[in-house]
Amino acid sequence: MRLSLRFILPLAAVLIVIAYATVPLMDKLIERWFIRDLEMRSELIANSIREPLLERLDNGSADRLSGYFNRITLNERLFAVGFCDAVRGRMVATKKFPEEIRCENVPDISPKTAGFTEKSGIKVYVTVEPVESEGLLAGRLVFVHDMGFIQRRSAEIRKYFFGFFTALGCIISLLTVIIAHMSRRGWISGIRALLRGETLKSMGGKGLASAPELQPIARDLRMLIRDLENEYRPRDEEQITWTPESLRSILKSELRGEDILVVSNREPYVHVKAGDGIQVQRPASGLVTALEPIMRACSGTWIANGAGSADRETVDGRDRVAVPPEKPSYHIRRIWLSEEEEQGYYYGFSNEGMWPLCHVAHVRPIFRAGDWSQYEAVNRRFADAVVEESDTDSPIVLVQDYHLALLPRMIRDRLPNATIITFWHIPWPNPESFSICPWRAQILDGLLGSSILGFHTQFHCNNFLDTVDRLMEARVDRETFTISFGGHQTAVHRYPISIDWPPAVEFTAKPVEECRRDIRSQNGLSENHAMGFGVDRLDYTKGILERFMAVERLLELQPEWRGRFSFIQVAAPSRSSIGSYREFETEVRSMAARINGRFGGGGYLPIILKIEHHDHAAVYEYYRAADLCFVSSLHDGMNLVAKEFLAARDDGRGVLILSRFTGASRELPEALIVNPYDIDQCAAALHMALLMPTTEQRDRITSMRGLIREFNVYRWAGRMLLDAAVMRRRERILERSE
Ligand code: G6P
Repeated sequence: MRLSLRFILPLAAVLIVIAYATVPLMDKLIERWFIRDLEMRSELIANSIREPLLERLDNGSADRLSGYFNRITLNERLFAVGFCDAVRGRMVATKKFPEEIRCENVPDISPKTAGFTEKSGIKVYVTVEPVESEGLLAGRLVFVHDMGFIQRRSAEIRKYFFGFFTALGCIISLLTVIIAHMSRRGWISGIRALLRGETLKSMGGKGLASAPELQPIARDLRMLIRDLENEYRPRDEEQITWTPESLRSILKSELRGEDILVVSNREPYVHVKAGDGIQVQRPASGLVTALEPIMRACSGTWIANGAGSADRETVDGRDRVAVPPEKPSYHIRRIWLSEEEEQGYYYGFSNEGMWPLCHVAHVRPIFRAGDWSQYEAVNRRFADAVVEESDTDSPIVLVQDYHLALLPRMIRDRLPNATIITFWHIPWPNPESFSICPWRAQILDGLLGSSILGFHTQFHCNNFLDTVDRLMEARVDRETFTISFGGHQTAVHRYPISIDWPPAVEFTAKPVEECRRDIRSQNGLSENHAMGFGVDRLDYTKGILERFMAVERLLELQPEWRGRFSFIQVAAPSRSSIGSYREFETEVRSMAARINGRFGGGGYLPIILKIEHHDHAAVYEYYRAADLCFVSSLHDGMNLVAKEFLAARDDGRGVLILSRFTGASRELPEALIVNPYDIDQCAAALHMALLMPTTEQRDRITSMRGLIREFNVYRWAGRMLLDAAVMRRRERILERSE
C-alpha cells in the first residue's frame, strides 16, 4: 500500500499540473477553430443575402431591411447584423446592434475580422463582409456573432478533457502499481538472484517464466558466466596443488561445504570374524583404493553392501559405522543383501553379465532374467538408502561402477535436483558388443539419469556416445560431449583415476634395500636373485596366464635367466562363487605348476604363486623389492597397480611392463608397453627390463612419477567436483529461464 501511494501521489500531481498547463492552450485552440467557422459562416450568409439585400436596398425602406436582418439573427449564433450603406451613407441594423460600431470605423475593421467586444456581458465577435453591386462597393455587412456558445462548447470540452485525464491517470496508476509489485517480486529479485546465482523459486516461487523480459539478461549472464568459467577452470585446476586439504576447500568454497554421498557395491572396510575377535580388512578393489582417501578428505557417507562376516556386529542402530577405525572421519552405511539378492545382483547380473560384457576378455556374458530382477531390486534398495541418507533435496551423489547402473535414474526420479556423478570404473564396449545385453535400454536409461558420467579414457567415452546414439532416441552432442535424453542432460567426460599422492608414509617407510632383502629371504631367494612382481585380483581379465606364458618364453629364449629370475604373483581370491573364476584359478595354479615343473628344480621356482589376500603395506613391500612389475591385463579401465608400483619406487629403480589394453598405458608411455596376447613380445620386454641400465630406469620412473604426482586421486575427484559445481551453478540459472 505504501509502495502504491509512493507511486500514485506524485503521478497524480504531475497529471494535475499537465492538465492545468494544457487548458488555456486548449481554450485558444478551440476558439481559433470556432472563429474560422464563424468567418466562413459570415461569408456564406453575405453571399446568400447579397441579392435580396441589393433588391431591398433599391426598393424598400430601412424598416423593411432591418426586419429582414432581424429574421436572419434568429440564428442562435448571430447576435446582431448591420449594413453600412456606402451609397446612401446610412446604417441599417438590428435592434441589438452595438452602438459603438459606426459606419465611419467599419472600413478600419480589417476586411474580415474585427476582434472581440464585450456587449452587455456577452462576448461578441465582429466580422465585416463587403457587398458589391456591378463592380462597385454597395456597402458593408457587419455581423456581430454571439461568442457565448463558444464558451459553452469550450466548457464542455474542458469537462471531457478533465475526465480523460482522470481516466488516464487512473490507468497509469494502476499499471504503475502492478509493475511496481512485479518489479519488487520478480525483476529486481530476479536480477539480484541471477547475480547471486540463486533461484527465483527459492525467493518466492516465481521462475523466469514469469519475468520473460529478464530472459535476454539471463542469456547474457549465462554467456558471461560460461566464459568466466572456461577461463577460470583450467587455470585453477592447474594452479592447485592437489591434496586432501585442497579437495576439502573446493568442497567448502565451490559446493558450499555440502557432504557427499558415495555409493558402491564394495565397502572400503570389511569387518570379519577372526577367532574370538573381529578383524578389519581393506578389500582388493581399485575403486576402494581410489575413493577411500577422497572420503577421508571430504567426510560424508559411503553407502555399500555390508558383506563382511562381522559387519552387522559393528554397526549402530542406523546400520552405520564410523571409519577409518584408527581415526574416524566418515561413515559407512551398510545395506544388507539376502543370499538370493547377492547371487542374482552381484554374482549373476553384475559379474557374469556386465563384467564380461564390458571387458574384451573372451568370456561369454551370461544374462538371466532372474538375475536382472534382483539387480533391479537391489539398485532400488540402494536408491532408498541414498534418499534416507540425504540431508537436502539436492545432494551430491557419487555413484560407482557397473553394479549400480540403474541407480542414477532411480535417484533422479526421487531427488530431481540431485547432482549425480557416476563413474564407470571398467571399460565401455562398442555398440555391437553392448547391444547383446537384453536390458541394454534400461541400463542406458539408468545411466542417463546422471549429471556427469565419467570414464577413464576418451575411447570409452566415445564408445558410450556411439552406443547411446545407436540404441536410444537421444540427442548426442559430440562437440560438448553431452547427451540430452528425456529433457535431462548428461555430460560424458574422461577422468583418469589415480592414487593417493604422496603415498602414506608407512608404505614407504621401510628402506628399499631392506624390502629387497626381506622379501627375497621370505621367498627363499638369494640376495641377487632377479625378481618380477604382479599383484591382482584373481580375475581372467588380468592376463595372469599370459604373464606366466611370457615368463616361460623368457626362460625358453634366454636360458641364462633360469635359476636367476623368479616371478612372484600375488592374487587375491575374487568372486570365487562364479564358475569361470573357479576354473580360472585352477588354470592359473596348473600353469604355474607346469612352468615350475619345466624350469624349476633344486629349490628354484620360476613362478611363485600366492593366492591369498595381502594388505596394502605388504604389497608395497613387494613393489619396493621387485626389479620389475608386470601388468598384463587383457582389458582394464585404468589399473592402479601400475600407478602404485611407481609411487612405491621413490628410489627411482625398477621397470614397469604395461599392457596396452589398460587405461594407464595412455598416461604412462615411458613404461614398456606390450600386447599381452603377444607372448614373444612380452618375453622380450621381460628380458629388456632385466637388463635395463639403472640410469634409464631412473629416467623412466622419474617421468612417470611426475605425472602421478601431478594427476593424483585428489585431482581426479576435484575435477569431477569442480565440474559438478559449475553444473549446479548453471542449472540454477537455467532453471529460472525455463
Ligand atoms: C573392479 C571393479 C570394482 C570392484 C573391484 C573388486 O575394480 O571396478 O567395482 O570393487 O573390481 O571386485 P569385487 O567384486 O571384489 O568388488
